[in-house]
Amino acid sequence: MTSSIHIAVIALGCLGFASPTFAEGEHALDLSALPEAGSIAPAEGLAAWDSIHAVLSHPRCLNCHVGDDNVPLWGTVAAPDRIHGMAINAGDSRIGAEGLSCNACHQTSTRPNAVPHAPPHTGMDWRLAPVAFQWTDRTSAEICAQLRDPDRNGGRDAARLIDHILHDAELIGFITWSFDPGADRDPAPGNMQAHLEDMAIWTAAGMPCPEP
Ligand code: HEC
Ligand code: HEC
Repeated sequence: MTSSIHIAVIALGCLGFASPTFAEGEHALDLSALPEAGSIAPAEGLAAWDSIHAVLSHPRCLNCHVGDDNVPLWGTVAAPDRIHGMAINAGDSRIGAEGLSCNACHQTSTRPNAVPHAPPHTGMDWRLAPVAFQWTDRTSAEICAQLRDPDRNGGRDAARLIDHILHDAELIGFITWSFDPGADRDPAPGNMQAHLEDMAIWTAAGMPCPEP
């Protein structure tokens, strides 16, 4: 499936279809405006990175992209460092398999999140991101270097980073939820379509990163 999406993105880019979309209904994404590799200047790529970093460094994303203490965060914009209550530790499994598993409270469901302070749910099994994807306590330059390094991003090249977003939209996963969390939570800045376009611009520019 991953490779067929990859091929679809390339084909759509070449053929310039008017309005190819991906996923259904309110989660549909428009792929028609995505740039081709090499078509974007580094300065434009860096500007797109700044927008990407504003998303990645928002509590909605950081709360799961934590380090090797395996402790999820309950960060908010006002209090970004707040740790998860109830002495939750995700363990090396990152899903709490060693103790209380995340899905004891966080169900897997695509229903909207309506109740404030209830455990949020998505269409993917709730868990922390792998330790290699830690973004807490990291600068923009550090996160950028991580994200373009296949050894630290789950083996993803540029196309697979884009596929990851499309896959998330299809399942109503963690990124989709972060932009539309419901239940009075602050959303990550922007929306899924803008994030997809920024990632496409950044990767098409060769993944430029700010100076450390
Ligand atoms: C005993 C129930 C329970 C378990 C088990 C649990 N959580 Fe939670 N979790 C909650 C509740 C309740 C909230 C919402 C707190 C609030 O908004 O005030 C929450 C919120 C969160 C948030 C914050 C989401 C956000 O951005 O607002 C993260 C991240 C999180 N949990 C991760 C995990 C992980 C990872 C695990 C498994 C290792 C886990 N939780 C296990 C009850 C639980
Ligand atoms: C509920 C926890 C959770 C939240 C919230 C979350 N992620 Fe993740 N993220 C994960 C997990 C688990 C993985 C690993 C799964 C995979 O590689 O497909 C991951 C992987 C990733 C990856 C791929 C590899 C890499 O280099 O980091 C990206 C990119 C990513 N997330 C972006 C985001 C963005 C952007 C947000 C906020 C808009 C976000 N995530 C919010 C759990 C989360």
